[in-house]
Amino acid sequence: MKLHGKHILLGVSGGIAAYKSAELARGLIKAGAEVQVILTAGAEAFITPLTFQALTGRAVRTELLDETAEQGMGHIELARWADLILLAPATANLLARLNAGMADDLLTTVVLASKAPLAIAPAMNQQMWANVATQRNIKALTDLYQPLWLGPDSGEQACGDVGAGRMMEPDAIVAQLEQQATASGAWQGKKVVITAGPTREAVDPVRYLTNHSSGKMGYALAAEAARQGAEVVLISGPVNLPTPAGVRRIDVISARDMAAAAEEYAPATDLFIGAAAVADYHVVNTSNQKHKKQASDQAWTLQLAENPDIIQGVAQHKRRPTTVVGFAAETTDVEQYARDKLARKNLDWIVANDVSRTDIGFNSDDNQVVVFGRNGLRSDLPQQSKTQLASALLALFTKD
Ligand code: PMT
Repeated sequence: MKLHGKHILLGVSGGIAAYKSAELARGLIKAGAEVQVILTAGAEAFITPLTFQALTGRAVRTELLDETAEQGMGHIELARWADLILLAPATANLLARLNAGMADDLLTTVVLASKAPLAIAPAMNQQMWANVATQRNIKALTDLYQPLWLGPDSGEQACGDVGAGRMMEPDAIVAQLEQQATASGAWQGKKVVITAGPTREAVDPVRYLTNHSSGKMGYALAAEAARQGAEVVLISGPVNLPTPAGVRRIDVISARDMAAAAEEYAPATDLFIGAAAVADYHVVNTSNQKHKKQASDQAWTLQLAENPDIIQGVAQHKRRPTTVVGFAAETTDVEQYARDKLARKNLDWIVANDVSRTDIGFNSDDNQVVVFGRNGLRSDLPQQSKTQLASALLALFTKD
């Protein structure tokens, strides 16, 4: 009963996934929540108010200007009543209307009038999900509300397409909300900024320099910090991973983009972790057009210039985060190079991993690291999943 007594306002919009919301309402009630359902006009085309009324024991709201319903609990009271507004399924249309700040039906009006946190489970055709307009709305809504994004899942869709856009399963949504509700721990209320993944340095419009980082280590840390109650900003290079629940993700491409994002988000935070594999150099003689193959005796020489050292900049900042943690990816003399970086970059901790091994480090699900602290502490952490390791590392960083 981890959602015991929580007032959850479940907003259902018009997509085929609306049938899953009946199961979701049931799951939320089983977890102890009080559930009030609002259906949009589109949702009513897929599922009836009576279904939800039977499941929740509460009259379902559908209209903004419904005199009888407003006498019971007006829409502003409804907005105040909610501890959480859960939009599931959230169609592309609903996301667009929310981003535009519309109040053209009961659901959008209540969202606009409420201070309650938002959780959003999008559901739509994969092409609609991938559309730039939808992605732009998602980004803008993230900035506006910092909602908990729940999915979407990938797979076969009702329309026969395959791809991202399926509504997350009701059980998984309830589990995530329960996890959020019980999030607590050493990082409760702390501000944490994490970089993850590789950077890409353009050579010409079709080529770039990069490395093997998958982002898994940084994402595991972000997920765990959020689970422990932190407010997490994840500055991510191009990776193929879903955003962890409750994490604000800032997408970047190059090292210089990542440096600008770190400059914006890292100052005065509680913890900064540089898990990204940042390219040390960018190409100076980039070309605006695709570089054509030359005669075979003509070498193509790329001229490289050094990128800013992001973590060093963060650690030297006048509003330095309380704790600054670097990673060291080494293939030889792991300990010596890691200790050198700890001192040279003015870090509090460095996490050294041996990237010459293929079963740990880059792109694997596991990692095995040695951590060195400015305070002289050394900790050898055994091989384990990156998720388990993230938890062990965050426990260590509280020792500052
Ligand atoms: O992403 P995965 O596939 O899960 O793999 C995880 C990982 C191996 C990428 C990760 O655990 C790791 O070791 N990340 C750091 C890789 C790296 O670039 O190490 P480095 O020794 O080059 O850099 C040392 C530190 O300085 C790092 O914290 C790095 O983020 C930071 N750095 C480096 C260069 C630069 N220009 N700016 C930086 O901030």
